[in-house]
Amino acid sequence: MNYLFLLSFLLFGTCKAGPRINCFPEPNANQSLCESRGCIWNPVTSEDGAPWCYFKDGVGYNLDSQNGSVYNLRKNNGPKNPWGADFQNIQIRTSSIGSVLNVKIGLEGRYEPPVDFPRATLPSSETLFFTTASSEDLFWFSVIRNTTNRKIFDTSLGGLIFSDQFLQLSTYLPSENMYGWGENAHQTLKHNFSRYLTWGMLARDQPPNSLNLDTMNLYGVHPFYMCLEPDGNAHGVLIFNSNAQEVTTAPGPSLIYRTIGGNLDVYFFPGPTPALVTQQYLAFIGKPFLPAYWALGYQLSRYGYSGLDEMKQRIGAVRDAGIPLDIAVADIDYMNRYKDFSTNDKWTGFEDYVSQMHGWNMKLIPIFDPAVEADYLPFQDAQAVQAKFIEWEDFSQVQRDIQNLYPMANQTKIMLGVVWPDRHVAFPDFLDSTGRTQAWWKYELELYHSKLSFDGIWIDMNEPANFGTNEQHPWYFDDDDHPNDAPLFCPTNGTNRWELPLFQTHAVYYYGGNENNAYLSSKTLCLAGVQNNGTFRFYDVKNLYGLTEAIHTQAALMEVTGKRGAVVSRSTFPSAGRYAGHWLGDNTARWEDLRTSVIGAQEFNLFGIPFVGSDVCGFLGTSNEELCLRWQQMGAFHSFFRNHNTLGEPAQDPAVWPAVATATRIANLFRYQYLPYLFSLHFLASRDGLTVVRPVFFEFPMDTATFDLGYQFMWGSSILVAPVVYQGAVTTNLYLPNDVWYSLFDYKYGSQIDSGYITVPSPTTSRIPVFVRGGSVIPRQTPTTTTTMSRLNPFELLIAPCQLGKAVGVLYWDDGERIVNSFDSHDYHQLDFSFVSTSSGASLTITRTRKGSITLPTLDIIEIFNYPSPPNFRSFLLNGQSVNINVQSSTYSGITKTLYISTKSLINLTSADVITLEWNNVSK
Ligand code: NOJ
Repeated sequence: MNYLFLLSFLLFGTCKAGPRINCFPEPNANQSLCESRGCIWNPVTSEDGAPWCYFKDGVGYNLDSQNGSVYNLRKNNGPKNPWGADFQNIQIRTSSIGSVLNVKIGLEGRYEPPVDFPRATLPSSETLFFTTASSEDLFWFSVIRNTTNRKIFDTSLGGLIFSDQFLQLSTYLPSENMYGWGENAHQTLKHNFSRYLTWGMLARDQPPNSLNLDTMNLYGVHPFYMCLEPDGNAHGVLIFNSNAQEVTTAPGPSLIYRTIGGNLDVYFFPGPTPALVTQQYLAFIGKPFLPAYWALGYQLSRYGYSGLDEMKQRIGAVRDAGIPLDIAVADIDYMNRYKDFSTNDKWTGFEDYVSQMHGWNMKLIPIFDPAVEADYLPFQDAQAVQAKFIEWEDFSQVQRDIQNLYPMANQTKIMLGVVWPDRHVAFPDFLDSTGRTQAWWKYELELYHSKLSFDGIWIDMNEPANFGTNEQHPWYFDDDDHPNDAPLFCPTNGTNRWELPLFQTHAVYYYGGNENNAYLSSKTLCLAGVQNNGTFRFYDVKNLYGLTEAIHTQAALMEVTGKRGAVVSRSTFPSAGRYAGHWLGDNTARWEDLRTSVIGAQEFNLFGIPFVGSDVCGFLGTSNEELCLRWQQMGAFHSFFRNHNTLGEPAQDPAVWPAVATATRIANLFRYQYLPYLFSLHFLASRDGLTVVRPVFFEFPMDTATFDLGYQFMWGSSILVAPVVYQGAVTTNLYLPNDVWYSLFDYKYGSQIDSGYITVPSPTTSRIPVFVRGGSVIPRQTPTTTTTMSRLNPFELLIAPCQLGKAVGVLYWDDGERIVNSFDSHDYHQLDFSFVSTSSGASLTITRTRKGSITLPTLDIIEIFNYPSPPNFRSFLLNGQSVNINVQSSTYSGITKTLYISTKSLINLTSADVITLEWNNVSK
């Protein structure tokens, strides 16, 4: 018996020390307040952060009756809910949607998030089933995996609470290997169950703090997790709820989930592999959009260009440094006093420059914020077509001191707030069921597109962010570039149930509660507001704002440009990946932020948003040469790859420092060389719901050493990346799971590397450690400085055989821009590659399993690692016909065992449905 256990036994006289369910998550708990809630006050000084005030056992419901898969529950005699009257009767409805098990705890007629998931399912070899049990006065349920009988969800922990504005569900977990929940800055990939930690989930304009452990809620909400069971099986769980919410991860391992509205609508995805969990989850919520090919290019951005000249100068510097670059990004600097759909004088000639950039095969992604000033033409246009904005419920609530300033709005209930523009703004209602708002939004984008030919769209501030809500002296009062507009005040001094629900979640308490002016409405609009003519309460739908804006912005972009382009959004919710990518928000130029961004990109792939990345080199604060260099090197492996910087900070594009320019050129050329592979991964993500950047454990779920490798990741199943994330590092410690690996970087390029824990050199002058897994055929292309030109270059194949000399791979290829309405009808090629090598020779078979109409460049180069002996270059047969191999440019090294075959126009990839290239080795 260990000391702690003995102590708790002596103190509590019980052997059962289950996790404590917090009865006082608010700040300033004390004994009398705690006991007045009927809860136990028991201060502990353990390091695990256990709550001092916790519920007595027995919180929950009893089974009243059962009717098939419907369970009618009745509030038991256990402790009562401190945050409102318990519903006496609730229901659990269970159903199977294909392989997905749905357990819905709630009541008919309550708010349901208006999110249109496809709810498609994939078959699974496994079944999850629902079982119930009860003790004298407590009902609970479990979800069990049929093949192993493992309880993957076990609510015997108790703690089920259901009232109008407080809902709680607790469960034991089958293991501590849990991933996901968001959006938060996680310092480790795997959650930590050695202590109690509560993570907030409410979309807020909140920069991540990566310096230390920080559980605050950030821009989006993702109530989804994946758990690896002790035997390596994986499952996923989505709690489909859009209210302000939080989750406590606690010893047990257990979790306690709380939300303040809707239902507890829980979906279980059976896996049993991590990859299948994601596929099942994405089939259900919707698979990610396929970005335009160019959107996988490198992007240069900053907030605070003094004008077009500075943009031109920095873009020019990066191009002159020979750094592959595809996209210029324009932040709010280009707008006239930060008003959407306008351009200021310092950007005269912007459209000419965009034409010039288009001539260089570059693209433009400008920013658009959702809120529009309430006194200019776009707002007037909106009024004219009866577009809707987020509004007050009734006229008596309207803040007249603001409204009266705006003739165009003073007859309306529109809730006016403050963002970047000089005067008050209105927030379009993307839930408008008449479609007028969406049509107006498209109209404005179309009109503006006729003035500035943008190619993609960046949507920001869509939590939605509002400056200075409920603040007497908001920050912008001290900002020379922003007038002192009257701030928005929400009805927070009464008992408004939307502004001041009895339970306000971590998003408020973490910031010190209301004494610190922290409200649910902090930095956003008043939760008492309404959308769609009062059908929706902002309290319920706030977390959907970014999603709904993304849906209609993507639709507008496609309609306006006729191409698929790419949208990137700051705020997200499950299914946002169908419409947009995401960047990880306003990070800081610190090593800690580089590290959390490596984790964040993996998490967003779990959430179905693979077009994700961070602000490379850091947004807030001043970057520096080494950090920026390492960030550029890492960011080159993130799908969304953008260097972005904030106002007032010195330039941090790679051309600023010669060493960063060189490292970025090397990193970007590698990325551009492997774009056909990266694009194919995105194709598979969109078509089949796979991940692009994925945790290493996805590929090795039986290897426990992979379970928390947050700073390494895979590109698909074939490439492993171990970025340099520590200052001063010239070597990198990493783990290669048991398999065949070859180096793809400067250290022993092409050689087999032993698996296990290894240390490899990683000087700033080389590529970061990157490895290819045996058994892979990777399509690539000779790189140039834009994706468009790279696409035209001949294809190459990298072949990394497994132990048996075999390898397979696939290439997906379309025109890079066409809108994908359905993969069934989409015009694309699929080429399957299969390689076999024996002691006497080798053969490569290329099968065209899908025929597109686009012309494919020829395959000119084949690089094969671990090739056992010299080939006879005169023996090559292409579909049985002898083919001339250029022996000047083709080589074989007996030392590195690399065979490099290079011949101009070697294989026309569309010449036949099945193409075979075979050859013999020089006989010994
Ligand atoms: C906030 C965004 O997160 C940031 O990336 C952007 O630069 C500023 N808004 C200005 O638009």
